[in-house]
Amino acid sequence: MTKEIVLTGITTTGIPHLGNYVGAIRPAIEASLSKDVESFLFLADYHALIKCHEPARIIESSKAIAATWLACGLNPDNVMFYRQSDIPEILELNWLLTSVTAKGLMNRAHAYKASVQENLDAGNQDADKGISMGLFSYPVLMSADILMFNAHKVPVGKDQVQHLEMCRDIANRFNHIFGDTFTIPQVIVEESSMIMPGLDGRKMSKSYNNTIPLFESEKKFKKLINKVVTNSLEPGEPKDPDTCSLFSIYSAFATDSEIADKRKAYQEGIAWGEAKKQLFEYLNDILKDKREDYNRLMDDPAYLEETLLKGADKAREKAAPLLAKAKKAVGIGPIV
Ligand code: TRP
Repeated sequence: MTKEIVLTGITTTGIPHLGNYVGAIRPAIEASLSKDVESFLFLADYHALIKCHEPARIIESSKAIAATWLACGLNPDNVMFYRQSDIPEILELNWLLTSVTAKGLMNRAHAYKASVQENLDAGNQDADKGISMGLFSYPVLMSADILMFNAHKVPVGKDQVQHLEMCRDIANRFNHIFGDTFTIPQVIVEESSMIMPGLDGRKMSKSYNNTIPLFESEKKFKKLINKVVTNSLEPGEPKDPDTCSLFSIYSAFATDSEIADKRKAYQEGIAWGEAKKQLFEYLNDILKDKREDYNRLMDDPAYLEETLLKGADKAREKAAPLLAKAKKAVGIGPIV
């Protein structure tokens, strides 16, 4: 039986937080354990370059993300774990795809349209002010990441769904013009990533600056949990778990029976201080060994680098034949 190929990328601009763990890291690692699945997980550093022009930040983020995935239990021998920029085939494919992508399709990308709207709202004469070609054609690069490995399924956050639709469009168009070359991928939306609230109660996201990093020092982690906003109900007053960020965060980690017990404690009027203390202790128990591994890996960048390069070697073996096929299909290659 051929394995199902599941692929996803992580843009290297930030440090992984609890929302990333629950929404992406944990489910991807679980999926990678299935014998029926071949997982491709990669650091999307060329994507980072589109929005970040701070080289040190891209490197630090790449290091932190690699260390996080390994500390959380990803076994690099069972999956393809690599850095996008180590696969030059992806950039070659990017051009082949760019050449069949309608500009009008890219005009409709939400991320681009939002930037244009910001310019218009700010009264700028130039609607494209500050918008790079990288941002504009970002969905093409993402398509190259996906099509390069004939992925069947691509788990992403809700904000990426349109990019997947564009990828399917681009693949279909290429296949239509040049003959069947690429697998048409399916999008998988990770539901749980939508409900993890951040410090201020909005969805935990680095763009809201409300994240709780996964591997802070224990002391800082405790401080951040204490900062999660609650209401002003007094100890002893019944509290509504369904509108409480602490409860949502807890629920993303706890079992059904633990959640039911916690619900009862809310009804019985648990004090906010106590709820925070319990949440910290619960999460800290789950995370503390992983945190130690993370710190050890962060102190050994040579190992991380070697692991990524090994992953790239494996991934390139898969990429090379498909790129050769695509190039041949479009008429790029030897004339003899
Ligand atoms: N653009 C994605 C994000 O910001 C990251 C990404 C890059 C990706 N290439 C990908 C995700 C390919 C899935 C498949 O979340």
